[in-house]
Amino acid sequence: MDTVPFDARDGLIWYNGELLPWRDAKLHVLSHGLHYASAVFEGERSYNGSIFKLTEHSERLAASAQMIGFELPCSVDEVDRACAEVCEANGIRDGYVRPIAWRGSEMMGVSAQNTTTQLAIAAWPWPSYFSPEARLKGIRLKTGPWKRPSPETEPVHAKAAGLYMICTLSKHTVENEGYDDALMLDWRGQVAEATGANIFMVMGDGRLHTPTPDCFLNGITRQTVIDLARERGIEVVERAIMPDEFAKATEVFLTGTAAEVTPVGEIDHYRFTPGDITKAMMEDYEKATGQTSKESAKAAASAAE
Ligand SMILES: Cc1ncc(COP(=O)(O)O)c(C=O)c1O
Repeated sequence: MDTVPFDARDGLIWYNGELLPWRDAKLHVLSHGLHYASAVFEGERSYNGSIFKLTEHSERLAASAQMIGFELPCSVDEVDRACAEVCEANGIRDGYVRPIAWRGSEMMGVSAQNTTTQLAIAAWPWPSYFSPEARLKGIRLKTGPWKRPSPETEPVHAKAAGLYMICTLSKHTVENEGYDDALMLDWRGQVAEATGANIFMVMGDGRLHTPTPDCFLNGITRQTVIDLARERGIEVVERAIMPDEFAKATEVFLTGTAAEVTPVGEIDHYRFTPGDITKAMMEDYEKATGQTSKESAKAAASAAE
């Protein structure tokens, strides 16, 4: 793992239309985005030189900005081009891309009517770390202490910085107890998602069940996996799911740009064994993203070096 802090790396960061040396891509301490969380961002992955679902991510960035009351300083097309440009400029074929837009420092207070919007895009190498075999062991989750808020409390469908406060708090709590991630319930006590990924479960009926995304991000990977499952003839049910239903689940997995399709072996006192449907979804997602087994094996080998 690269332990160099993110502000002390080398490369180029796209910043308001210019490619700046990595260490010069700074913002002022009195930025509205920092004090009042008026910031939205994306997490994208490039596979073999192509950013998966790039336009969907750029569109979500623009929609997230609108949901928290500002416009991006450029069009979705321009964001697409800038993401590709920053990968190209840094020689990244397999990596992670992080666009972020925030309100600047023209005003300091709750009101931000006259602030300008800043946009930066960074990218760094991030190969698929785990071989399918290693990931099949399944990660360990524990229900976290914070709940996803109701849609009338926050703009819950935005990928906005402010919504991650409860994710970080939940993840820290369970990490301190040795778990990999937190399961987050929503304000009604229903299963919502993990702290940075959506959740699916295979019930005894052989169907794939996933919570209706009415108070959390309807992930791009989630939507992709639903399509892939349906293409295989697997029935997908989106519905309200209560946590005690994990007792009937045989397989559970997470989906997300970073997580891809990651099997879950444990949630609280429930245990699951990654099985055929999880394996099928991992394989189909790998194919959809343009990875081949040979390439991911190579990536896993070089990440381990
Ligand atoms: C809270 C949260 N839920 C779900 C997801 C999965 O979304 P996607 O599949 O679009 O990466 C993410 C990652 O962006 C996330 O941060």
